[in-house]
Amino acid sequence: MKGVVLAGGLGSRLYPLTKVTNKHLLPVYNEPMIYYPIRILVNAGIDEILVVTGGNNAGDFLKLLENGKDFGLKHINYTYQQGEGGIAAALSLAEFFADKDKIIVVLGDNIIEKNIKSAVKKFRDQKEGARILLKEVTDPQRFGVPVFKGEKIIRVEEKPANPSSNYAVIGIYMYDYRVFEFIRSLKPSQRGELEITDVNNFYINEGNMQWDVLDGWWTDAGTFESLQNASNMVEKTGANKI
Ligand code: DAU
Repeated sequence: MKGVVLAGGLGSRLYPLTKVTNKHLLPVYNEPMIYYPIRILVNAGIDEILVVTGGNNAGDFLKLLENGKDFGLKHINYTYQQGEGGIAAALSLAEFFADKDKIIVVLGDNIIEKNIKSAVKKFRDQKEGARILLKEVTDPQRFGVPVFKGEKIIRVEEKPANPSSNYAVIGIYMYDYRVFEFIRSLKPSQRGELEITDVNNFYINEGNMQWDVLDGWWTDAGTFESLQNASNMVEKTGANKI
């Protein structure tokens, strides 16, 4: 199984912090934001990792992360996303790297308190399909939100005005190799992006999506409020606990 960290996009919600600097290089408490998603993968036992960068200062990722020695890695792979075509567009750049293997995708602005070991173990044993992680939140309209029928997710809605549950689909996704086929058939959404929620709905529609609820806190760090919240949470409890 291989890991992909998506750190492309323009970070426009954090302007002017991101006018010069790449969002994922900004500090979250005492470390650059990108450290946290990389550790999510490393702590789950994934040591083949691709970082998709984009926007400003792409070269600085190499300077910062080097070959991943600080994370106990021997090597990190890098690629570059032009523009802000969406999360699924950034992921499409990982096809060659994935080379038909299963992948775990982590959004570059997602931070968790604990780890995803148990979900990854279940996904290793899962023959095919996808797996998402959910977390109960107070502001689901900011995220992808699952619609349940009993215990089953029947679709995910992206940033719904009237969320049908209090769960967010967090930015950690597990896919089999067919994800790249699905992405090729996507059309841009109203915000002009290839949406990861549409990818998840492909798997849901064919009955091949599993889910777990994440243990410990989760936050994104892509708005002023959530960036500040992320720093506070990391200061208070620490992150990426094994
Ligand atoms: O954080 C979880 C949420 O992330 C999910 O609940 C949503 O379903 C999902 O769409 C996403 O929502 P956001 O609108 O908050 O995503 P955002 O545009 O902030 O992008 C999150 C990360 O994805 C960003 O830090 C880097 C990566 N990304 C994003 C875009 C738009 C890319 O690598 N390339 C891109 O073009």
